[in-house]
Amino acid sequence: MNTQSHLGAWFLTAVFSVLLMTTISSTVAAQDIVSFNEDVFPIIEVRCLACHQPGSAGYEASGLDMRTYEGLIKGTKHGPILTPGRPFESSLIAMIDHRTDPKIWMPHDRKRLSKCERLMFRFWVSQGAKNN
Ligand code: HEC
Repeated sequence: MNTQSHLGAWFLTAVFSVLLMTTISSTVAAQDIVSFNEDVFPIIEVRCLACHQPGSAGYEASGLDMRTYEGLIKGTKHGPILTPGRPFESSLIAMIDHRTDPKIWMPHDRKRLSKCERLMFRFWVSQGAKNN
């Protein structure tokens, strides 16, 4: 093989690799979009809602009503508990990850959410906390 065909083969390999990587990363990204309705809300229903609706302890103490997307975005009587796009500045994420005062770890006095459930909240916030 002469130098020219070596270069040609190298070039084709490079182009092919870039195409392959682009295809793989866009496929992964498309699958990783978190849905509020299908991924996040089912966790809220099972792990948060019993205390976070009118008449229950969490709602009465904080004003946080988690029955709807709007209620979650509104937050507590003191204001929002999350900043879309910024999971590490969102108190909601800090509380479920146990990075706050233990008194406000959530779910309050209950078992911590699984890593997978917590990542679901985190990715949802980092993807803009959409009503999707
Ligand atoms: C067993 C009842 C209970 C469950 C279950 C529960 N909470 Fe709470 N939650 C509370 C109580 C009580 C407070 C008030 C705590 C305080 O301010 O001392 C509260 C307050 C909060 C606050 C506001 C804290 C603050 O002071 O700013 C957030 C956010 C919150 N809960 C999120 C959640 C999330 C998310 C879940 C589910 C993963 C959840 N909670 C499940 C009882 C509960």
